Amino acid sequence: MILFGPRASPPQIWAVEDTAVQLTWGDLPPGPVVATAGSSRAAVDHLGGPGGLVVDHLGPDRAVDVELWWSGGSVTLPARTLPQPPGRLLARFATISDLHLGALRWGALKTMTDSSGHEVPHPYRCASAAVAEAVEWGAELLVIKGDAAQHETDRDFAAVGQLADEFDSLPMLLIPGNHDVDGRAGSIPLTVGRRRLPFTRRVDRFDLPGVRVIAADTAVPGRGSGSLARVCQPILDEASGSDRPLFIALHHQLQQGRLPRHWPVGISAPDSTRFLDRLDGIDRPATVSSGHTHRNRARFHRSVMVTEVGSTKDWPGVWAGYAVYEGGIRQVVRRIMRTDAITWTEYSRMALNGLWGRWSPGPLDQRCLAHAWARSPTTV
Ligand SMILES: [Fe+2]
Ligand SMILES: [Fe+2]
Repeated sequence: MILFGPRASPPQIWAVEDTAVQLTWGDLPPGPVVATAGSSRAAVDHLGGPGGLVVDHLGPDRAVDVELWWSGGSVTLPARTLPQPPGRLLARFATISDLHLGALRWGALKTMTDSSGHEVPHPYRCASAAVAEAVEWGAELLVIKGDAAQHETDRDFAAVGQLADEFDSLPMLLIPGNHDVDGRAGSIPLTVGRRRLPFTRRVDRFDLPGVRVIAADTAVPGRGSGSLARVCQPILDEASGSDRPLFIALHHQLQQGRLPRHWPVGISAPDSTRFLDRLDGIDRPATVSSGHTHRNRARFHRSVMVTEVGSTKDWPGVWAGYAVYEGGIRQVVRRIMRTDAITWTEYSRMALNGLWGRWSPGPLDQRCLAHAWARSPTTV
């Protein structure tokens, strides 16, 4: 066993699903890294430093001891796989948010920069790796939940278009965040990329088997906080007209307390609560997920599952996958594992004098959770 200092995250169970667990580490020596759990095994030829791997083919809702071996050490990590929601698996989709394409610096004083020498800037490397890993996981749709661009500039929107075109066969929804409408030096385009992917400017929807995905624009030009004023009723109209359960993607988080408890400010608590009350009153199971906070959290408002998922480009550097069943939904938040991405996101955890490393990840059971519908199941 080697000791992991405060600058490197220890080997850990980062994510759990029904049949898989993801392990990540902040600093292991070069050489083979092997994980075993029961009769399942996964291995990578590790270059040294941060990394991760996925052990699959486990049973659902089981306690497992995962043994992780590397050159010169090993550790046993207990885990529990998630239960499967009832019924057949109908669809898989993914979300990413807070890509901040065009950003060069990170940290409270913006003093953290990428010294890796890569030609491709770290936000693009992280976003591109996230989408590639989500596609490999099985995502049939990608929702980009805002702050795709660092600033409202032609240069940054060109990078958003480049990313959309890199995965041009993958259906996408693209929602503006506050950074996309910050009024720096241009105006948000109607579409990005050669594929002409539109920005959602009010409410859009995409129906998959078992779920209606609704994307809504909560951004207010020139303001950091968000608003439901233009989109609350259109969202509820799309929701009440749906013949299947709902997934509502927003950029800004729905605040709980009357006073914001943390930065950045999202959507005011009274507006958020009224919206969730009305959504709960619609006879369809619903999940709402946002970005903006660059952190991972989950809660329930009556029947509605409400989650926040972190950024692709700063610690822990994640994307979210959703597996839709006839009787429920499962969220997994996975760290981006590609070396040229995780090397940056591991470094970025030292922001705010290391406080970011503890604040952003959220507990495992708020990143990865299965929710069985308590009300009428999908009809599709
Ligand atoms: Fe952001
Ligand atoms: Fe934001």
